[in-house]
Amino acid sequence: MARHLITSAIPYINGIKHLGNLVGSQLPADLYARFQRARGNEVLFLCATDEHGTPAELAAAKASKPVAEYCAEMHGVQAQIAEGFRLSFDHFGRSSSEQNKKLTQHFAGRLADAGLIREVSEKQVYSNADGRFLPDRYIEGTCPNCGYDKARGDQCENCTKQLDPTDLIDPRSAISGSTDLEVRETKHLYLCQSQMKDQLEEWIDTREGWPILTTSIAKKWLTDGDGLQDRGITRDLAWGVPVKKGTEEWPGMEGKVFYVWFDAPIEYIAAAQEWVDAGKGTDWERWWRTDKGADDVRYTQFMGKDNVPFHTLSFPATILGSGEPWKLVDYIKSFNYLNYDGGQFSTSQGRGVFMDQALEILPADYWRWWLLSHAPESSDSEFTWENFQASVNKDLADVLGNFVSRVTKFCRSKFSEAVPEGGAYGPSEEALIETLTTRIRAYEGHMEAMEVRKSAGELRAIWVAGNEYLQEAAPWSTFKTDPETAAMQIRLALNLIRLYAVLSAPFIPDASAQLMQAMQTEDDSWPDDVPAALQVLEPGHAFTVPEVTFRKIADDEREGWQERFSGVRS
Ligand code: 2FM
Ligand code: ZN
Repeated sequence: MARHLITSAIPYINGIKHLGNLVGSQLPADLYARFQRARGNEVLFLCATDEHGTPAELAAAKASKPVAEYCAEMHGVQAQIAEGFRLSFDHFGRSSSEQNKKLTQHFAGRLADAGLIREVSEKQVYSNADGRFLPDRYIEGTCPNCGYDKARGDQCENCTKQLDPTDLIDPRSAISGSTDLEVRETKHLYLCQSQMKDQLEEWIDTREGWPILTTSIAKKWLTDGDGLQDRGITRDLAWGVPVKKGTEEWPGMEGKVFYVWFDAPIEYIAAAQEWVDAGKGTDWERWWRTDKGADDVRYTQFMGKDNVPFHTLSFPATILGSGEPWKLVDYIKSFNYLNYDGGQFSTSQGRGVFMDQALEILPADYWRWWLLSHAPESSDSEFTWENFQASVNKDLADVLGNFVSRVTKFCRSKFSEAVPEGGAYGPSEEALIETLTTRIRAYEGHMEAMEVRKSAGELRAIWVAGNEYLQEAAPWSTFKTDPETAAMQIRLALNLIRLYAVLSAPFIPDASAQLMQAMQTEDDSWPDDVPAALQVLEPGHAFTVPEVTFRKIADDEREGWQERFSGVRS
């Protein structure tokens, strides 16, 4: 039995994620986790919320809530929506956990001991009224380029010009509005990534079969002019992991916290500790410490392309720099972007469909199927309502749903609600089994390789093969002259429903569960032997006709949604 550690990039806490976020990390990670479990492998699938940093502080301020309270609440909301989408995390942790705090401080201490952290003095804007340093985006003023009076210290939203806080005319604090600002010296910690360039380059060069998207981004950052620069890992914020060297104070760093991108990936490890502390597991070290059994774990990470530099360079620098036997990632599956109806999905602008809204419209499986079968793997892809409607109606309703309905209803009306016996297979059944065997082996190969679209295509072809067989065998005609053969055809078709439920579960878990229940079986064993898998439901085995598995989306309904989601979310 293989052991798979699987992590999805951890979503920011500030608000509900859109479908583009979902398809870029959590959903394909779930597909892979479910597939590996179905194959009988041991899986630890982890995710969490990414709770620190300026965006969390700003979102909490906007909601007029203390940041800790805001995060606790939003974690609950995200956890519930994840459940709604059937994301099968073994644990959904929080980067603000005590476990992550200790571990982050531990890593900083190890890196400092290894001489990989240096202190740097910097000039930064301090607000006397607020009693704190202000990050660039907390400073507002008039844009020197276009005169917009709400330009931020990092960028003018109106004319998009990149700015420095000192460029702003009449700068003021975005928190209090105070203009009593001054530039002060402040000390920060830098991680000496540049010292680790060779080690990281060698590590990346020896990764076999990584997706081109992943390695090309990593290589670009390694070799470009401003490639692997030392990186500031502390911030003057109140909310975050307090800067410490292991368990000791860090002189001069009082009141500072680690940068959110330093502690976020460490949460992958902390989430495993949280999983144990929550009583859901007993041993996290056998997943994460190569000296404690994790050397035979295969670790796969899922993320959008914007996250790749942090996972190919920064986080490995933390792990390698610690000099401790932590598990390094074996495979990074990254995704391009999903666009929305001629533009981009945007959290800040509220553009597109958000996870909670999607579930209000249709059950999770409809979305899971469309998103996964259109995953932005080789290039960016686009969500359009027409395409969504067409895929659902054709693949789910016409091909899969219709097969199930025709077979079960026909059997009930002509035989009974039990698997009929019938005679031996003929040439068409043998041909079908051969086709299915070839296709199922191909499906396994694509799933194993995390080729998401190809997997969906193969699964669809497996459904189509059953439909074509049924069309050709036409038991409703056969029945008139040869009920014995019709019974055999239906026995095979009922068994195919169970087989489809097993194969489709990673994509559409709820529909699969419904089909298993209708077939009144709990045998979800993987079809290593296809002929045997088609004999599981024996003659006489009772079943029920399921409710409609997938309904069609009507044109006026689609138009209504199109209209509803054409603007921005308030
Ligand atoms: O892009 C994002 O949503 C980040 N919150 C991902 C962090 S992944 C990891 F490193 F923790
Ligand atoms: Zn401007």
